[in-house]
Amino acid sequence: MENLATLDRSPQDRLGRPLRDLRISVMDRCNFRCPYCMPRERFHEHYAFLKTAERLSFEEILRLTRLFVPMGVRKLRITGGEPLLRVNLPDLIADLNAIPGVEDIALTTNGVLLAKHAYELKAAGLARVTISLDSLDQDIFARMNGGFGKVSEVLEGIEHAQAAGLGPIKINTVIQRGVNEDSVLPLVERFRGTGITVRFIEYMDVGNRNDWREQLVVPSRDLQARIHARWPLQPVRPDYAGEVARRYAFDDGAGAVGFISSVTQPFCGACSRARLSSDGVFYTCLFAQTGTDLRGPLRAGADDDDLGRIIRGTWSHRDDRYSEQRMILRSRSQAGPKVEMNYIGG
Ligand SMILES: C[S@@+](CC[C@H](N)C(=O)[O-])C[C@H]1O[C@@H](n2cnc3c(N)ncnc32)[C@H](O)[C@@H]1O
Ligand code: SF4
Repeated sequence: MENLATLDRSPQDRLGRPLRDLRISVMDRCNFRCPYCMPRERFHEHYAFLKTAERLSFEEILRLTRLFVPMGVRKLRITGGEPLLRVNLPDLIADLNAIPGVEDIALTTNGVLLAKHAYELKAAGLARVTISLDSLDQDIFARMNGGFGKVSEVLEGIEHAQAAGLGPIKINTVIQRGVNEDSVLPLVERFRGTGITVRFIEYMDVGNRNDWREQLVVPSRDLQARIHARWPLQPVRPDYAGEVARRYAFDDGAGAVGFISSVTQPFCGACSRARLSSDGVFYTCLFAQTGTDLRGPLRAGADDDDLGRIIRGTWSHRDDRYSEQRMILRSRSQAGPKVEMNYIGG
């Protein structure tokens, strides 16, 4: 229950949107090279990832999170890069979980290291995991992730997460035209009736390095029609305001599928998400070109009031709605580079 004092301190942005979610990228590196996120040729072996000292330490992440929570943040999502590459991650989760006001902590992972860490993460207070899996077919899976890992490792991760109670589990599947469209029905079939919800994500123009083209996007409505023809679906009401995925339940009661349609059905109007990059920059949009540096002032000795003012001011000035304006913004010749996905997570 929010009390009046908390509500008083919750900023709204210029479009009247409150701050409710904080996505924390704990690691810019990844053990995959998904061409739609960190293409291998651009994120090669000499790529200059952050140095350890450039990443926010756990203490710094905790201090900033403690400042975000009184401004309305209730849900945290730990992401990356690949968050499970961050050493001692359960220690961070345990400390985040102890912050009064934090109601939910989730993690997004490619799942390869999950079997090893699921129980420890659950014991530390992690509530839920979202696991990315673009195909059950090993060859297509490898094509979608740059040639790393095995489908069987991800499935094992999912099993361990389920056994550890890290649910409800969601699967994120990015669909790219001409690459993994045929993986849709097998994925739905595999997870129907298991309590796990597969969410199909339209390929997005995040970052600057994935050579995104609109022709590579498969609109969610096409996928929905394809699934509906095999297993009839009906729309489900959102669980909460600002839910990113539109969900559809199977008529036969075998659960639901979701669609995240940032390209064809943008959901900026209800976006309450703030993003903290691995090097401590506060972004107010996944597609942002600039952010507000929090690490600089934090390391220069700013006190909590100063940092709180910066956070509040940044959110209050926010008017991002990139997905709604995508085509106009992309056509502008002065459009600058966007932040890369591995710095701020999905
Ligand atoms: C950036 S990843 C970080 C966490 C973890 N490495 C993973 O893959 O789950 C978070 C999510 O963003 C999704 N993603 C990355 N690039 C994308 C793109 N260009 N379009 C749509 N989704 C994308 C991934 O599939 C993943 O589900
Ligand atoms: S989507 Fe996730 S797993 Fe794939 S390259 Fe990006 S951060 Fe790594």
